Amino acid sequence: MKFGRGASADAGWELKRLGVRRVMLVTDPGVAATGYPERIQKAIEAEGIDVVLYDRSRVEPTIDSFQDAVDFALEHEAEGFVSVGGGSSIDTAKVANLVCTHPAPVMDYVNPPVGAGRKPPSPLKPHLAIPTTSGTGSEATTVAVLDIPELKVKTGISHRYLRPTQAIVDPDLTRTLSPEVTSSTGLDVVCHAAESFLSKPFDARERPESPDDRPPYQGSNPVADVWSAKALELGGRYLRRAVADGGDVEGRGFMMLAATMAGVGFGSAGVHIPHACAYPIASTRHEYQPPGYPEDHPFVPHGHSVIVTAPAAFRFTYDAAPERHIHVARLLAPDSSADPGPETLPEVIRQLMKDVGAPRGVAELGYSEDDIPDLLAGALKQQRLLAVAPKAVGEDDLRLIITASMTNW
Ligand SMILES: [Fe+2]
Repeated sequence: MKFGRGASADAGWELKRLGVRRVMLVTDPGVAATGYPERIQKAIEAEGIDVVLYDRSRVEPTIDSFQDAVDFALEHEAEGFVSVGGGSSIDTAKVANLVCTHPAPVMDYVNPPVGAGRKPPSPLKPHLAIPTTSGTGSEATTVAVLDIPELKVKTGISHRYLRPTQAIVDPDLTRTLSPEVTSSTGLDVVCHAAESFLSKPFDARERPESPDDRPPYQGSNPVADVWSAKALELGGRYLRRAVADGGDVEGRGFMMLAATMAGVGFGSAGVHIPHACAYPIASTRHEYQPPGYPEDHPFVPHGHSVIVTAPAAFRFTYDAAPERHIHVARLLAPDSSADPGPETLPEVIRQLMKDVGAPRGVAELGYSEDDIPDLLAGALKQQRLLAVAPKAVGEDDLRLIITASMTNW
C-alpha cells in the first residue's frame, strides 16, 4: 500500500506498472460529485490508459448491483479495475473483477450456506483500490460484502484473490465527509481492530485438511496483532478529533491510516460477534434514515450497526482472555480504569460512542424487542464470523448480547 497526502496522483503510474491498457473506474454517484474520481481519471488518462467510468455502485451492494457492474466490465472488456470510494465501491470492483475473470453466477461465489462458496481457479486482473472513507479497510482485505434483501441476510464473498493488487491511501480524499460518516466509519475501524485482537488465537483452531481449505479469517496471530494494536491506538487518539473538525487533516490522515492498518489486521485474524450481529441489524428492516447521509434510501450505516453490540459482546468474551481485553481498553484509552475488570473495555467503548455521537443502541436504529428473534436468526447465520470468536457463542448468548444492546446508556 502507498500512503500520503496527494498519493492518488500516482494512480496512472501504478496502473501502467501493472500493465493495464483499459481500466474500469468504479465509484458511486455521491463520491463522483466530490470531483475526486474525475481528477483520478485524468491522472490515469495522462499515462495513455483508457478509462471506462462506472459511477453506479450502490452504497449497500446487492447481488443485482454486483451483476450490473459485472455486465459493464464484460461489455467494456476491462483489463483492470480502479475503485474510488468507500467499501461498497471497492467491493463492487472486487466482484466485477472476480466474475469477469472467471464467469459464473455471482451467487456461486457467495459464502456458504447462502451461496456455493466457489473458489476462483487463478488470480484476477489488476485492481488498484483508492479509498475515500476511513472505514472498511476493504483495500486491504479479501472480502466483499453484499446484502440479499429477499433472504434478509448480509453476507459476503471471500477469497485471497479478491484482495486488491495495490492500494493508494490519500488523506486528502476524505475531506468532504460529514461528521456522522466519519463517526460511523471510524467506529467500524475500532471494531475491526478490537475484534481481531480479541479473536480466537490461530493456534487454538483446528488445522484445515489442506492449505486450500484454510479460511481467510484465521484468528488472532502475532502479525495481525501488530496492525490491530496500532489501529486501536490511532483510533483512540484521533477519531474524536476527526469527527469534531472535518478540517483536521492530521486527525483524518491518521484515521485513514488506522482504517487500512485495521484492514490488514482483520483481513488475517477476522471479526466476529459485533460484525455477525451487525449484518441482520443492517438488513432486517430498511427504515432507518441516517442523519448526515444522502437521503436516497434508508439504511443503517455499517459502523453504527457494528458498534452498538460491541460493549455487550466484549463483556461476554472477557473471561476468554481478560488481559487482552484490558490491553485493548488501554490502547484505546491509555488512562482507563486503574482497577480493570469485565466492564473496563465496554465502558471505554461507550464513552467513545458518546463522544462521537453514535446511536445509543439497537433500538435507536429502528428495532423493538419484537425484532430480537429475527436479529438473532440473522446473526446465527454468520457462522464464518462466529467461528473466530474467542469462546463458543450459542443462541442464548447472542440473545443476551442483542437484548443488552437495545440501549447502551
Ligand atoms: Fe466492518
